[in-house]
Amino acid sequence: MKTAINILMTLLLMAAMAYHYTGQMWHEITGTAMFVLFVVHNALNYRWYRSLLKGKYNAARILMTVTNALLVIDILLLMLSGMSISFYVFKFLPDSVSLPSARSIHLIASYAGFLLISFHIGLHMRGVFGKIWNKIRLFSEKQKGLGFIRGLFVLLVAAACFYGIYAFKERNFWGYISGSTMFAFFDYSESPVWFFLDYAAIMLFMAVSAFLLQKLSAAGGRAVIIGIKRHVSAHKVRCSVIAGAVVLAVLFFFLFGASYVRRHFQTVNIDRAQAVSTERIDMKGKKGIIVYFTRVGNTAFAEGVDAVSSASLMTDGANLIGNSELLSEMIANATVFPVYAIKTKNKYSSSYTATVIEAGKDLRGERPVELEDDVPELSEYDTVILVYPLWWGTLPVAVQKFLTESRLEGKTLYSLVTHGGGGFGSALQDTPKWTAARVSNAALSVYDDEVTAALPKIVSWLEKIADN
Ligand SMILES: Cc1cc2nc3c(=O)[nH]c(=O)nc-3n(C[C@H](O)[C@H](O)[C@H](O)COP(=O)(O)O)c2cc1C
Repeated sequence: MKTAINILMTLLLMAAMAYHYTGQMWHEITGTAMFVLFVVHNALNYRWYRSLLKGKYNAARILMTVTNALLVIDILLLMLSGMSISFYVFKFLPDSVSLPSARSIHLIASYAGFLLISFHIGLHMRGVFGKIWNKIRLFSEKQKGLGFIRGLFVLLVAAACFYGIYAFKERNFWGYISGSTMFAFFDYSESPVWFFLDYAAIMLFMAVSAFLLQKLSAAGGRAVIIGIKRHVSAHKVRCSVIAGAVVLAVLFFFLFGASYVRRHFQTVNIDRAQAVSTERIDMKGKKGIIVYFTRVGNTAFAEGVDAVSSASLMTDGANLIGNSELLSEMIANATVFPVYAIKTKNKYSSSYTATVIEAGKDLRGERPVELEDDVPELSEYDTVILVYPLWWGTLPVAVQKFLTESRLEGKTLYSLVTHGGGGFGSALQDTPKWTAARVSNAALSVYDDEVTAALPKIVSWLEKIADN
Protein backbone atom coordinates (compact mmCIF):
# COMPACT_ATOMS: atom_id res chain seq x y z
CA MET A 1 0.00 0.00 0.00
CA LYS A 2 2.75 2.44 1.03
CA THR A 3 4.73 1.69 -2.14
CA ALA A 4 1.63 2.09 -4.33
CA ILE A 5 0.91 5.49 -2.76
CA ASN A 6 4.52 6.58 -3.23
CA ILE A 7 4.53 5.57 -6.89
CA LEU A 8 1.18 7.30 -7.46
CA MET A 9 2.49 10.47 -5.79
CA THR A 10 5.56 10.47 -8.03
CA LEU A 11 3.40 10.11 -11.14
CA LEU A 12 1.09 12.88 -9.96
CA LEU A 13 4.09 15.09 -9.28
CA MET A 14 5.24 14.65 -12.88
CA ALA A 15 1.73 15.43 -14.14
CA ALA A 16 1.49 18.52 -11.93
CA MET A 17 4.78 19.86 -13.33
CA ALA A 18 3.47 19.41 -16.87
CA TYR A 19 1.02 22.29 -16.48
CA HIS A 20 1.12 23.18 -20.17
CA TYR A 21 -0.06 19.72 -21.20
CA THR A 22 -2.71 19.24 -18.53
CA GLY A 23 -4.15 22.77 -18.42
CA GLN A 24 -5.33 24.67 -15.34
CA MET A 25 -8.19 22.41 -14.25
CA TRP A 26 -6.23 19.13 -14.34
CA HIS A 27 -3.27 20.87 -12.75
CA GLU A 28 -5.47 21.79 -9.80
CA ILE A 29 -6.95 18.29 -9.61
CA THR A 30 -3.56 16.54 -9.71
CA GLY A 31 -2.13 19.02 -7.19
CA THR A 32 -5.01 18.45 -4.78
CA ALA A 33 -4.82 14.67 -5.19
CA MET A 34 -1.09 14.87 -4.48
CA PHE A 35 -1.73 16.82 -1.31
CA VAL A 36 -4.31 14.27 -0.11
CA LEU A 37 -1.81 11.47 -0.75
CA PHE A 38 0.85 13.53 1.03
CA VAL A 39 -1.37 13.63 4.12
CA VAL A 40 -1.97 9.87 3.86
CA HIS A 41 1.77 9.27 3.35
CA ASN A 42 2.47 11.27 6.52
CA ALA A 43 -0.23 9.46 8.47
CA LEU A 44 1.19 6.09 7.43
CA ASN A 45 4.65 7.22 8.45
CA TYR A 46 3.55 8.90 11.71
CA ARG A 47 6.31 7.05 13.55
CA TRP A 48 8.84 9.45 12.03
CA TYR A 49 7.20 12.38 13.88
CA ARG A 50 7.00 10.39 17.13
CA SER A 51 10.67 9.52 17.03
CA LEU A 52 11.82 13.05 16.20
CA LEU A 53 12.94 13.81 19.74
CA LYS A 54 14.20 10.33 20.48
CA GLY A 55 17.45 8.58 19.83
CA LYS A 56 20.70 9.76 18.40
CA TYR A 57 21.16 12.08 15.48
CA ASN A 58 23.94 10.96 13.23
CA ALA A 59 24.80 12.89 10.06
CA ALA A 60 22.58 10.68 7.88
CA ARG A 61 19.63 11.22 10.19
CA ILE A 62 20.20 14.97 10.25
CA LEU A 63 20.18 14.97 6.45
CA MET A 64 16.89 13.09 6.43
CA THR A 65 15.29 15.30 9.13
CA VAL A 66 16.25 18.59 7.48
CA THR A 67 15.05 17.35 4.07
CA ASN A 68 11.74 16.18 5.49
CA ALA A 69 11.19 19.38 7.48
CA LEU A 70 11.81 21.53 4.39
CA LEU A 71 9.57 19.26 2.39
CA VAL A 72 6.67 19.55 4.85
CA ILE A 73 6.98 23.37 4.87
CA ASP A 74 7.25 23.45 1.08
CA ILE A 75 4.20 21.25 0.49
CA LEU A 76 2.10 23.29 2.94
CA LEU A 77 3.11 26.50 1.16
CA LEU A 78 2.41 24.91 -2.18
CA MET A 79 -1.06 23.86 -1.14
CA LEU A 80 -1.96 27.16 0.57
CA SER A 81 -0.73 29.25 -2.36
CA GLY A 82 -2.43 26.86 -4.78
CA MET A 83 -5.75 27.22 -2.95
CA SER A 84 -5.36 30.96 -3.00
CA ILE A 85 -4.96 31.14 -6.79
CA SER A 86 -7.33 28.28 -7.60
CA PHE A 87 -9.83 28.78 -10.39
CA TYR A 88 -11.65 25.46 -10.22
CA VAL A 89 -11.17 23.16 -7.22
CA PHE A 90 -11.13 25.89 -4.52
CA LYS A 91 -13.23 28.41 -6.38
CA PHE A 92 -15.73 28.37 -3.49
CA LEU A 93 -13.24 30.02 -1.10
CA PRO A 94 -13.95 33.69 -0.41
CA ASP A 95 -11.68 36.25 -2.09
CA SER A 96 -10.30 37.28 1.28
CA VAL A 97 -8.31 34.05 1.33
CA SER A 98 -6.36 35.25 -1.67
CA LEU A 99 -2.74 35.75 -0.59
CA PRO A 100 -0.64 38.45 -2.17
CA SER A 101 2.20 36.94 -4.19
CA ALA A 102 0.57 33.52 -4.00
CA ARG A 103 1.39 32.88 -7.65
CA SER A 104 5.11 33.56 -7.11
CA ILE A 105 5.15 31.48 -3.92
CA HIS A 106 3.46 28.67 -5.80
CA LEU A 107 6.00 28.83 -8.61
CA ILE A 108 9.02 28.76 -6.30
CA ALA A 109 7.54 26.10 -4.01
CA SER A 110 6.64 23.85 -6.93
CA TYR A 111 10.16 23.70 -8.40
CA ALA A 112 11.78 23.53 -4.94
CA GLY A 113 9.23 20.82 -4.04
CA PHE A 114 10.09 18.79 -7.12
CA LEU A 115 13.77 18.82 -6.13
CA LEU A 116 13.06 18.11 -2.44
CA ILE A 117 10.72 15.23 -3.25
CA SER A 118 13.32 13.75 -5.62
CA PHE A 119 15.96 14.12 -2.88
CA HIS A 120 13.60 12.58 -0.32
CA ILE A 121 13.00 9.63 -2.66
CA GLY A 122 16.78 9.17 -2.96
CA LEU A 123 17.12 9.06 0.84
CA HIS A 124 14.69 6.14 0.89
CA MET A 125 16.21 4.31 -2.04
CA ARG A 126 18.83 2.42 -0.09
CA GLY A 127 16.72 -0.74 -0.22
CA VAL A 128 15.70 -0.42 -3.86
CA PHE A 129 19.12 0.62 -5.17
CA GLY A 130 20.70 -2.10 -3.02
CA LYS A 131 18.41 -4.80 -4.43
CA ILE A 132 18.99 -3.75 -8.04
CA TRP A 133 22.71 -3.62 -7.45
CA ASN A 134 22.76 -7.08 -5.80
CA LYS A 135 20.76 -8.61 -8.66
CA ILE A 136 23.18 -7.18 -11.20
CA ARG A 137 26.16 -8.30 -9.15
CA LEU A 138 24.84 -11.87 -8.72
CA PHE A 139 23.91 -12.08 -12.39
CA SER A 140 27.28 -10.90 -13.60
CA GLU A 141 29.09 -13.23 -11.19
CA LYS A 142 27.04 -16.25 -12.24
CA GLN A 143 27.39 -15.56 -15.94
CA LYS A 144 31.13 -15.61 -16.19
CA GLY A 145 32.64 -12.91 -18.32
CA LEU A 146 29.66 -10.60 -17.85
CA GLY A 147 31.31 -8.52 -15.13
CA PHE A 148 31.19 -5.56 -17.46
CA ILE A 149 27.40 -5.43 -16.89
CA ARG A 150 28.04 -3.86 -13.50
CA GLY A 151 30.29 -1.25 -15.05
CA LEU A 152 27.73 -0.61 -17.74
CA PHE A 153 25.01 -0.08 -15.12
CA VAL A 154 27.11 2.45 -13.20
CA LEU A 155 28.02 4.17 -16.46
CA LEU A 156 24.39 4.42 -17.55
CA VAL A 157 23.23 5.84 -14.22
CA ALA A 158 26.13 8.33 -14.22
CA ALA A 159 25.31 9.40 -17.81
CA ALA A 160 21.63 9.86 -16.93
CA CYS A 161 22.65 11.94 -13.89
CA PHE A 162 24.90 14.16 -15.99
CA TYR A 163 22.06 14.63 -18.40
CA GLY A 164 19.92 15.54 -15.35
CA ILE A 165 22.38 18.33 -14.47
CA TYR A 166 22.18 19.61 -18.04
CA ALA A 167 18.35 19.48 -17.95
CA PHE A 168 18.36 21.28 -14.57
CA LYS A 169 20.25 24.13 -16.21
CA GLU A 170 18.30 24.11 -19.47
CA ARG A 171 14.94 24.01 -17.66
CA ASN A 172 15.99 27.00 -15.57
CA PHE A 173 15.37 25.31 -12.20
CA TRP A 174 17.75 27.64 -10.42
CA GLY A 175 15.97 30.69 -11.84
CA TYR A 176 12.66 29.39 -10.48
CA ILE A 177 13.75 28.31 -7.01
CA SER A 178 15.81 31.46 -6.44
CA GLY A 179 12.82 33.62 -7.38
CA SER A 180 14.76 35.44 -10.10
CA THR A 181 12.51 34.04 -12.82
CA MET A 182 8.96 34.96 -11.95
CA PHE A 183 7.22 33.05 -14.72
CA ALA A 184 7.40 29.45 -15.76
CA PHE A 185 8.39 29.19 -19.37
CA PHE A 186 6.55 26.45 -21.23
CA ASP A 187 7.28 25.42 -24.75
CA TYR A 188 3.88 24.39 -26.02
CA SER A 189 5.31 22.96 -29.21
CA GLU A 190 7.72 20.64 -27.39
CA SER A 191 7.12 16.89 -27.45
CA PRO A 192 5.99 15.57 -24.02
CA VAL A 193 8.60 12.80 -24.39
CA TRP A 194 11.45 15.31 -24.02
CA PHE A 195 9.70 17.10 -21.19
CA PHE A 196 9.19 13.95 -19.12
CA LEU A 197 12.64 12.56 -19.97
CA ASP A 198 14.26 15.78 -18.75
CA TYR A 199 12.24 15.82 -15.53
CA ALA A 200 12.92 12.12 -14.92
CA ALA A 201 16.66 12.77 -15.39
CA ILE A 202 16.57 15.70 -12.94
CA MET A 203 14.71 13.50 -10.46
CA LEU A 204 17.26 10.71 -10.88
CA PHE A 205 20.13 13.14 -10.41
CA MET A 206 18.62 14.45 -7.16
CA ALA A 207 17.79 10.94 -5.92
CA VAL A 208 21.26 9.56 -6.66
CA SER A 209 22.87 12.64 -5.05
CA ALA A 210 20.79 12.05 -1.91
CA PHE A 211 21.66 8.36 -1.90
CA LEU A 212 25.39 9.03 -2.20
CA LEU A 213 25.30 11.87 0.33
CA GLN A 214 23.51 9.62 2.78
CA LYS A 215 26.17 6.93 2.34
CA LEU A 216 28.92 9.48 2.77
CA SER A 217 27.32 11.13 5.78
CA ALA A 218 26.68 7.77 7.45
CA ALA A 219 30.38 6.92 7.18
CA GLY A 220 31.70 10.40 7.96
CA GLY A 221 29.04 11.05 10.58
CA ARG A 222 30.08 8.05 12.66
CA ALA A 223 33.58 9.48 13.00
CA VAL A 224 32.27 12.94 13.91
CA ILE A 225 29.80 11.59 16.47
CA ILE A 226 32.47 9.58 18.23
CA GLY A 227 34.44 12.84 18.48
CA ILE A 228 31.44 14.86 19.73
CA LYS A 229 30.43 12.23 22.26
CA ARG A 230 33.66 12.70 24.09
CA HIS A 231 32.89 16.37 24.73
CA VAL A 232 29.14 17.10 24.49
CA SER A 233 26.08 15.46 26.03
CA ALA A 234 23.50 13.72 23.81
CA HIS A 235 20.86 16.26 24.91
CA LYS A 236 22.95 19.18 23.67
CA VAL A 237 23.51 17.45 20.34
CA ARG A 238 19.74 16.95 19.94
CA CYS A 239 19.00 20.60 20.74
CA SER A 240 21.67 21.84 18.32
CA VAL A 241 20.29 19.60 15.58
CA ILE A 242 16.76 20.98 16.04
CA ALA A 243 18.06 24.57 16.21
CA GLY A 244 20.09 23.92 13.06
CA ALA A 245 17.03 22.62 11.22
CA VAL A 246 15.01 25.71 12.26
CA VAL A 247 17.79 28.08 11.18
CA LEU A 248 18.02 26.28 7.83
CA ALA A 249 14.26 26.54 7.29
CA VAL A 250 14.29 30.27 8.11
CA LEU A 251 17.27 30.80 5.79
CA PHE A 252 15.43 28.92 3.07
CA PHE A 253 12.50 31.33 3.27
CA PHE A 254 14.59 34.46 3.40
CA LEU A 255 16.66 33.29 0.48
CA PHE A 256 13.69 32.51 -1.69
CA GLY A 257 11.25 34.95 -0.17
CA ALA A 258 13.10 38.24 -0.27
CA SER A 259 13.03 38.81 -4.02
CA TYR A 260 9.30 38.41 -4.56
CA VAL A 261 8.35 40.30 -1.40
CA ARG A 262 10.42 43.23 -2.65
CA ARG A 263 8.91 43.15 -6.12
CA HIS A 264 5.32 42.45 -5.35
CA PHE A 265 4.22 44.25 -2.28
CA GLN A 266 4.48 47.88 -3.19
CA THR A 267 3.36 50.27 -5.87
CA VAL A 268 6.41 52.29 -6.79
CA ASN A 269 6.17 56.09 -6.99
CA ILE A 270 8.35 57.42 -9.78
CA ASP A 271 9.40 60.79 -11.06
CA ARG A 272 8.06 60.27 -14.56
CA ALA A 273 9.57 63.36 -16.17
CA GLN A 274 13.00 62.58 -14.82
CA ALA A 275 12.85 58.90 -15.77
CA VAL A 276 12.21 59.71 -19.44
CA SER A 277 14.05 62.98 -20.01
CA THR A 278 16.93 62.69 -22.44
CA GLU A 279 18.76 64.44 -25.29
CA ARG A 280 17.37 63.97 -28.75
CA ILE A 281 19.10 61.33 -30.88
CA ASP A 282 19.72 61.82 -34.62
CA MET A 283 17.84 58.87 -36.16
CA LYS A 284 19.54 59.57 -39.51
CA GLY A 285 16.43 60.08 -41.59
CA LYS A 286 14.54 57.05 -40.31
CA LYS A 287 10.79 57.49 -40.31
CA GLY A 288 9.67 55.60 -37.29
CA ILE A 289 6.68 54.91 -35.10
CA ILE A 290 6.60 53.44 -31.61
CA VAL A 291 3.88 50.85 -30.98
CA TYR A 292 3.41 49.51 -27.47
CA PHE A 293 1.20 47.22 -25.48
CA THR A 294 1.04 47.18 -21.69
CA ARG A 295 -0.99 45.50 -19.00
CA VAL A 296 -1.89 48.74 -17.26
CA GLY A 297 -3.67 50.24 -20.26
CA ASN A 298 -5.62 47.06 -20.87
CA THR A 299 -6.83 46.20 -17.41
CA ALA A 300 -10.10 46.94 -15.69
CA PHE A 301 -8.50 48.13 -12.48
CA ALA A 302 -10.56 48.52 -9.36
CA GLU A 303 -10.88 52.02 -7.92
CA GLY A 304 -7.89 52.22 -5.59
CA VAL A 305 -4.47 50.94 -6.57
CA ASP A 306 -4.31 49.14 -3.24
CA ALA A 307 -7.13 46.92 -4.38
CA VAL A 308 -4.85 45.46 -7.01
CA SER A 309 -3.55 42.20 -5.65
CA SER A 310 0.10 41.23 -5.89
CA ALA A 311 0.92 43.78 -8.53
CA SER A 312 4.18 45.64 -8.81
CA LEU A 313 2.92 48.82 -10.43
CA MET A 314 4.38 52.23 -11.01
CA THR A 315 2.56 55.48 -10.46
CA ASP A 316 3.51 59.10 -11.03
CA GLY A 317 1.17 60.13 -8.23
CA ALA A 318 -1.81 60.61 -10.54
CA ASN A 319 -1.75 57.68 -12.97
CA LEU A 320 -0.63 54.10 -13.07
CA ILE A 321 2.11 53.55 -15.65
CA GLY A 322 2.89 50.36 -17.50
CA ASN A 323 6.50 49.32 -17.99
CA SER A 324 6.14 49.24 -21.77
CA GLU A 325 4.45 52.62 -21.64
CA LEU A 326 7.34 54.18 -19.74
CA LEU A 327 9.89 52.59 -22.08
CA SER A 328 7.92 53.94 -25.06
CA GLU A 329 7.98 57.41 -23.53
CA MET A 330 11.77 57.20 -23.22
CA ILE A 331 12.05 56.27 -26.89
CA ALA A 332 9.60 58.98 -27.92
CA ASN A 333 11.57 61.63 -26.04
CA ALA A 334 14.79 60.54 -27.67
CA THR A 335 13.48 60.14 -31.22
CA VAL A 336 10.38 62.33 -31.46
CA PHE A 337 8.69 59.36 -33.18
CA PRO A 338 4.91 59.24 -32.65
CA VAL A 339 3.49 56.66 -30.24
CA TYR A 340 0.61 54.25 -30.76
CA ALA A 341 -0.87 52.17 -27.91
CA ILE A 342 -2.42 48.78 -28.68
CA LYS A 343 -5.70 48.42 -26.78
CA THR A 344 -7.84 45.33 -26.41
CA LYS A 345 -11.64 45.41 -26.45
CA ASN A 346 -12.06 43.06 -23.52
CA LYS A 347 -9.93 44.14 -20.58
CA TYR A 348 -7.93 41.93 -18.24
CA SER A 349 -8.88 41.43 -14.60
CA SER A 350 -7.29 43.70 -12.03
CA SER A 351 -5.84 40.72 -10.18
CA TYR A 352 -2.34 39.95 -11.43
CA THR A 353 -2.86 36.23 -11.01
CA ALA A 354 -6.12 36.29 -12.95
CA THR A 355 -4.41 38.25 -15.75
CA VAL A 356 -1.68 35.65 -15.96
CA ILE A 357 -4.27 32.91 -16.31
CA GLU A 358 -6.33 34.91 -18.81
CA ALA A 359 -3.22 35.55 -20.90
CA GLY A 360 -2.56 31.79 -20.91
CA LYS A 361 -6.10 31.24 -22.17
CA ASP A 362 -5.52 33.86 -24.89
CA LEU A 363 -2.57 31.87 -26.13
CA ARG A 364 -4.52 28.62 -26.19
CA GLY A 365 -7.36 30.32 -28.07
CA GLU A 366 -9.74 29.85 -25.11
CA ARG A 367 -10.45 33.56 -24.70
CA PRO A 368 -11.16 35.91 -27.60
CA VAL A 369 -8.78 38.83 -28.03
CA GLU A 370 -9.93 41.70 -30.23
CA LEU A 371 -8.31 45.06 -30.75
CA GLU A 372 -10.32 48.09 -29.69
CA ASP A 373 -9.46 50.13 -32.81
CA ASP A 374 -8.58 49.39 -36.40
CA VAL A 375 -4.81 49.33 -36.80
CA PRO A 376 -3.43 52.73 -37.91
CA GLU A 377 -2.19 53.55 -41.39
CA LEU A 378 1.55 52.95 -41.31
CA SER A 379 2.56 53.53 -44.92
CA GLU A 380 4.57 56.68 -44.14
CA TYR A 381 6.91 54.82 -41.77
CA ASP A 382 9.89 52.59 -42.56
CA THR A 383 10.69 51.66 -38.97
CA VAL A 384 8.44 50.19 -36.29
CA ILE A 385 9.68 50.04 -32.71
CA LEU A 386 7.51 47.49 -30.97
CA VAL A 387 7.47 47.56 -27.17
CA TYR A 388 5.65 44.88 -25.15
CA PRO A 389 5.83 42.72 -22.04
CA LEU A 390 6.80 39.08 -22.33
CA TRP A 391 3.68 37.04 -21.59
CA TRP A 392 4.03 33.33 -21.07
CA GLY A 393 7.41 33.41 -22.74
CA THR A 394 6.17 35.04 -25.93
CA LEU A 395 4.28 38.02 -27.41
CA PRO A 396 0.88 38.82 -25.86
CA VAL A 397 -1.90 37.77 -28.26
CA ALA A 398 -2.93 41.44 -28.65
CA VAL A 399 0.51 42.20 -30.06
CA GLN A 400 0.31 39.18 -32.37
CA LYS A 401 -3.06 40.51 -33.56
CA PHE A 402 -1.66 43.97 -34.16
CA LEU A 403 1.13 42.49 -36.26
CA THR A 404 -1.14 40.30 -38.37
CA GLU A 405 -3.65 43.09 -38.94
CA SER A 406 -1.03 45.70 -39.94
CA ARG A 407 0.55 45.97 -43.36
CA LEU A 408 4.22 45.93 -42.50
CA GLU A 409 5.83 44.59 -45.68
CA GLY A 410 9.09 46.36 -46.42
CA LYS A 411 9.36 47.88 -42.94
CA THR A 412 11.94 47.01 -40.30
CA LEU A 413 10.66 45.96 -36.91
CA TYR A 414 12.76 46.50 -33.76
CA SER A 415 11.52 44.72 -30.63
CA LEU A 416 11.88 45.97 -27.07
CA VAL A 417 10.71 43.28 -24.67
CA THR A 418 10.21 43.92 -20.98
CA HIS A 419 10.05 40.83 -18.79
CA GLY A 420 10.04 39.40 -15.27
CA GLY A 421 13.17 37.27 -15.67
CA GLY A 422 12.41 35.34 -18.85
CA GLY A 423 14.39 37.63 -21.19
CA PHE A 424 13.12 37.40 -24.73
CA GLY A 425 11.65 33.94 -24.11
CA SER A 426 10.74 32.70 -27.58
CA ALA A 427 9.29 36.10 -28.57
CA LEU A 428 11.94 36.94 -31.15
CA GLN A 429 11.72 33.57 -32.89
CA ASP A 430 7.91 33.80 -32.79
CA THR A 431 7.60 37.33 -34.21
CA PRO A 432 8.10 36.45 -37.92
CA LYS A 433 5.09 34.10 -37.64
CA TRP A 434 2.88 37.16 -37.21
CA THR A 435 4.34 39.74 -39.52
CA ALA A 436 5.72 40.29 -42.98
CA ALA A 437 8.06 43.01 -41.64
CA ARG A 438 11.80 42.41 -41.54
CA VAL A 439 12.38 41.50 -37.89
CA SER A 440 15.73 42.96 -36.86
CA ASN A 441 18.08 40.99 -34.64
CA ALA A 442 18.97 44.23 -32.91
CA ALA A 443 16.39 43.72 -30.19
CA LEU A 444 16.53 44.79 -26.56
CA SER A 445 15.14 43.23 -23.38
CA VAL A 446 14.62 45.09 -20.11
CA TYR A 447 14.00 43.38 -16.79
CA ASP A 448 10.87 44.80 -15.11
CA ASP A 449 12.76 45.83 -11.99
CA GLU A 450 15.12 47.92 -14.10
CA VAL A 451 12.61 49.75 -16.28
CA THR A 452 12.84 53.11 -14.49
CA ALA A 453 16.63 53.12 -14.87
CA ALA A 454 16.65 51.81 -18.45
CA LEU A 455 17.20 55.13 -20.22
CA PRO A 456 20.98 54.77 -20.90
CA LYS A 457 20.38 51.27 -22.32
CA ILE A 458 17.58 52.59 -24.51
CA VAL A 459 19.70 55.49 -25.77
CA SER A 460 22.58 53.28 -26.88
CA TRP A 461 20.12 50.85 -28.46
CA LEU A 462 18.50 53.67 -30.44
CA GLU A 463 21.92 54.87 -31.58
CA LYS A 464 22.57 51.40 -32.97
CA ILE A 465 19.19 51.43 -34.72
CA ALA A 466 20.00 54.82 -36.24
CA ASP A 467 23.24 53.41 -37.69
CA ASN A 468 21.58 50.24 -38.97
C1 LIG B 1 -0.03 37.89 -18.10
C2 LIG B 1 1.41 38.03 -17.78
C3 LIG B 1 2.30 37.06 -18.20
C4 LIG B 1 3.65 37.24 -17.98
N1 LIG B 1 4.50 36.27 -18.42
C5 LIG B 1 5.83 36.44 -18.23
C6 LIG B 1 6.75 35.46 -18.70
O1 LIG B 1 6.38 34.45 -19.28
N2 LIG B 1 8.06 35.66 -18.46
C7 LIG B 1 8.52 36.77 -17.83
O2 LIG B 1 9.70 36.91 -17.65
N3 LIG B 1 7.66 37.73 -17.37
C8 LIG B 1 6.34 37.59 -17.57
N4 LIG B 1 5.47 38.55 -17.13
C9 LIG B 1 6.00 39.75 -16.49
C10 LIG B 1 6.01 40.93 -17.45
O3 LIG B 1 6.58 40.59 -18.69
C11 LIG B 1 6.81 42.07 -16.89
O4 LIG B 1 6.44 42.36 -15.57
C12 LIG B 1 6.69 43.32 -17.75
O5 LIG B 1 7.70 44.25 -17.39
C13 LIG B 1 5.34 43.98 -17.60
O6 LIG B 1 5.23 45.05 -18.51
P1 LIG B 1 3.94 45.99 -18.60
O7 LIG B 1 3.90 46.75 -17.32
O8 LIG B 1 4.19 46.86 -19.78
O9 LIG B 1 2.76 45.12 -18.80
C14 LIG B 1 4.11 38.39 -17.32
C15 LIG B 1 3.21 39.34 -16.83
C16 LIG B 1 1.86 39.16 -17.07
C17 LIG B 1 0.89 40.17 -16.57
